[in-house]
Amino acid sequence: MKKALFMAGAVAAGISGASADSTLKINAGEAKAKSSPIHYGLMTEEINYCYDGGLYAETVRNRAFKDDAETPVHWSLLDENSTIGLDRETPLNDKIDVSLKWEIRSKRSSRLANEGWWGIPVHPNTRYRASFYAKADGTAGPVRVAIMDKEGRKTYAEGTVESIGSEWAKYELVLETGNVKDTDETQLVLEAGEKRTIWLSLVSVFPPTWNDRPNGLRKDLMQLLVDLKPKFLRFPGGNYLEGNTLEERFKWWETLGDLTERPGHPCPWGYRSCDGMGLHEFLLWTEDMGAEPVVGLYAGYNLNKSYIPAGPELDKYVQEALDEIEYIMGPVDSKWGAKRAAAGHPEPFPLRYVEIGNEDWFDVSGSYDGRFAQFYDAIKAKYPQLKCISSVGNEQSKWLVKSRNPDVLDEHYYRSTDEFIEMAGKGYYGSYDRNGPEIFVGEWAAHEDKNIRPWDKDSMTTFPATPGMLAAIGDAVFMTEMEKNSDIVTMQAYAPLFVNLNEYQWRPDLIGYDAIRSYGSPSYHALKMFSTNYGDEILEASLDADSALHCSVTRDSEKGVIYIKLVNPEERQEKVSIQLDGLEKVASNALVEVMSADPEDTNSIDKPEKVVPVSRKISGIHPTFSYPVPGTSVVVIKVKAM
Ligand code: AHR
Repeated sequence: MKKALFMAGAVAAGISGASADSTLKINAGEAKAKSSPIHYGLMTEEINYCYDGGLYAETVRNRAFKDDAETPVHWSLLDENSTIGLDRETPLNDKIDVSLKWEIRSKRSSRLANEGWWGIPVHPNTRYRASFYAKADGTAGPVRVAIMDKEGRKTYAEGTVESIGSEWAKYELVLETGNVKDTDETQLVLEAGEKRTIWLSLVSVFPPTWNDRPNGLRKDLMQLLVDLKPKFLRFPGGNYLEGNTLEERFKWWETLGDLTERPGHPCPWGYRSCDGMGLHEFLLWTEDMGAEPVVGLYAGYNLNKSYIPAGPELDKYVQEALDEIEYIMGPVDSKWGAKRAAAGHPEPFPLRYVEIGNEDWFDVSGSYDGRFAQFYDAIKAKYPQLKCISSVGNEQSKWLVKSRNPDVLDEHYYRSTDEFIEMAGKGYYGSYDRNGPEIFVGEWAAHEDKNIRPWDKDSMTTFPATPGMLAAIGDAVFMTEMEKNSDIVTMQAYAPLFVNLNEYQWRPDLIGYDAIRSYGSPSYHALKMFSTNYGDEILEASLDADSALHCSVTRDSEKGVIYIKLVNPEERQEKVSIQLDGLEKVASNALVEVMSADPEDTNSIDKPEKVVPVSRKISGIHPTFSYPVPGTSVVVIKVKAM
């Protein structure tokens, strides 16, 4: 119903504010402050099958047979002509220290299947790069590789390796689909005959990737991200940085190089990461989005609450961090810069911000102050230009770093819509000291019910994985608060970014997908409305005290475009009189983006665009004009000063 209001043709805006419910006064004569040029960014980590089974385009699950120590999970036999099992005596190498032993007992062929990440994505007229490492007891062959339906009857794409030798070698082939329909009711099938034993490792099938990069990223998901125009990417976590134990922290150097050199590691969200998406891939991903990296450095604290105290014991980990920075931005004649160059990227990546640890307020021993200081001193000594982010924000005032002055504080807010409305209503960031550290809201998201938090088990069973309009309203309200204070809130990122709808550990998440489809939640669209309509100047804007609306106004000083963002959490329409003080003339037409829906409306894999913004032109704009803000809506009005 509400949406229909905005599907109709262009309308004239009201000129006077006489019949308005509230007034928005904007000082367009003079900017209040400069906004941060990198305010809108992304946060990412391995959670909800976000890389493996998500953005990382590999389609074979458990490709290196390391996901389970006992059995080759996600692999099965389609007949009884052979047996499979893990073999630690015949590994590919010491990093991929196990292989699959496939013993074909019969002269008849046998078929081995991989279920993929809930199916192998099949798209029409698509070329897939397939490869595997193998050796045989003698010479074996041919081996057929095919993407088939779940019953193993229909073949979508196939290729054949004529023979397998007796030493480990890599075999590569191209599989190509014809004019088929998109489907994930599929599996990967390897078929071999003869009475032979074949050992397999690193079985891989990649569809076309973003920018056609080998070992690259899923195109549809990248498109959704690029459309947000993110200015930075915070990685690799989150909890993923810290790991459950010291051993399971993100060891960036073990994620580099050829895939055969990457052992993979357990991720704290209950599954194993193959590390095909490693440090270098994160950096290329950042570059491909036109963003800059904000790198989380492991700082001596693990999720099991163990920590390395400041002092000589911590030096090793400080050195790990310095080496990581060198990999990212060191010269090509440095040890790690040379490795980056050898990986195909001689130019340093544009690093300006590093974060020391993640959510170190959980370390109630109080060791963070000393650990931060040790990292800070070493980083500043070698890279004085880098800004060091403390992972403790003002809410956890007890654990704030005191012995040094962090350049930036990272604050995390997973709040209900009502709580965000309350925070914004009190002008949460307005009172922050402008001479204090920059604020990075490195993780935030609205959920629907303050009694069910994202990490609760109930959260996953009570609500869908991606948030609906009610949460998007909370997100948008909080974004108005962050944006109008973006002189001090220099960066912010919604979290988590992705969710594989088949299995996940946390909700709400911004973008949902299965093997072949993806969509943005209403929160995604709210974020996009904000991040793509953002000026370099913040204008002072005030609503009547009793207005239900929330607002933020910025201006692009070069184009003279004023972005007026309004959020209406109430279900009834509110007509607002907008007064652009200090302007004599504005263009008579304005562009408006409106996302309006019932609070319980949402997007889903089957209805990916139920709630999306609608763009339209409105006419009759003057320095004072009125606009009816629909109930439960997010609105951006773009007015051009003349
Ligand atoms: O975003 C999910 C988790 O929330 C992150 O891993 C962690 O930093 C936070 O507690």
